[in-house]
Amino acid sequence: MKNYKIAILPGDGIGPEIMAEAVKVFRLVEERNDVTFELIEADFGASAYFKCGHPFPEETIAVCDAADAIIKGPIGLNHEESKKIPLDMRPERGALLPMRRRYNTFANFRPVFLPKSLGHFSPLKAEIIGEGIDLVMVRELVGGLYFGDKEEGVNEQGLRYVRETLEYDEEQIRRIMHEALQLSMRRKKVLHNIHKSNVLRSSVLWNEVLGEVAVEYPEVEVKHILVDAAATMLCLNPCQFDVMVMENMFGDILSDQGGGILGSLGLMPSECKGPEKSYYEPSHGSAPDIAGQNIANPYSMIGSVAMMLESSFGMLQESKNVWSAMQSVFADGYSTADLSKPGGSVKMINTAEFGDRVVTALRAMPKVV
Ligand code: IPM
Ligand code: MG
Repeated sequence: MKNYKIAILPGDGIGPEIMAEAVKVFRLVEERNDVTFELIEADFGASAYFKCGHPFPEETIAVCDAADAIIKGPIGLNHEESKKIPLDMRPERGALLPMRRRYNTFANFRPVFLPKSLGHFSPLKAEIIGEGIDLVMVRELVGGLYFGDKEEGVNEQGLRYVRETLEYDEEQIRRIMHEALQLSMRRKKVLHNIHKSNVLRSSVLWNEVLGEVAVEYPEVEVKHILVDAAATMLCLNPCQFDVMVMENMFGDILSDQGGGILGSLGLMPSECKGPEKSYYEPSHGSAPDIAGQNIANPYSMIGSVAMMLESSFGMLQESKNVWSAMQSVFADGYSTADLSKPGGSVKMINTAEFGDRVVTALRAMPKVV
């Protein structure tokens, strides 16, 4: 019997509600498999700041350090509420980025997936979606503008200024390229490299290192596309993409666009992979405007469980089962409010009902032997 320790960080806003549904799935996976999960809950984000005075408290760090994997809900407050917290203690700067740095989670995997049968969720036309959208954005997560040196002050002309540095060394680029190329090998063997080498020197080095690393993966066809063109192509022809690799900031922006072409950011789970452990999180924010109403879509949170099962625990088939269980809820005509268009024929269900339906569907699937 395998036993894994999992740190559970519900986070802010809708985080606790959608995490409760993820926990239901962990419990059922335990029942169905030769595995036990020790789920240890800890405070993280703005809620942790108000409770303990820090958004990533020492006790939470200890829980995460001891865990085999971490799953976290979204963090953050609305603009007005944020102002009650000093800048460096706000959940993004004071918790999320320190978490990424601490576990050196350099590789962020964001699947953008919508089967043809669910094409009606997307704002794109059926002829554009074709056989469905199925791509993975691989985002470098601990470099670039997010982590570069920052400086601000008043310049010689008496004007306030700010300087933020976009820095990558070749090793940082090399390791993310290996991840992207290895993923391409497991998929369609086509890698789109997203860059801006017509302007940015960082992209010139990025492309150069990709060229060197790609030699080790001769079967993978590497295609280069400028980031602005990629944004257009995600709308006009998303099906040409399979694996896309990009630096941190480009990845932040394009992955939200990924959620947009699916019809909801609520469909975007993710893995943040480091050398020792990964943490898993929805790609979206904490949606404070709908928090506490039991209407949020827990798909991204449960999808993060599925990604953990595969990637941290090697439970590939059970992971697939969780994905299919979620798809089957949609296939049965149900969905949460974010995907229910006015006048549509979708039967609207709440957060807990979605989780319960996933659990029921998973329970009905053959166990992995
Ligand atoms: C994401 C989020 C974060 C980011 C925020 C919350 C700091 O938008 O994971 O995409 O910008 O990386
Ligand atoms: Mg983002």
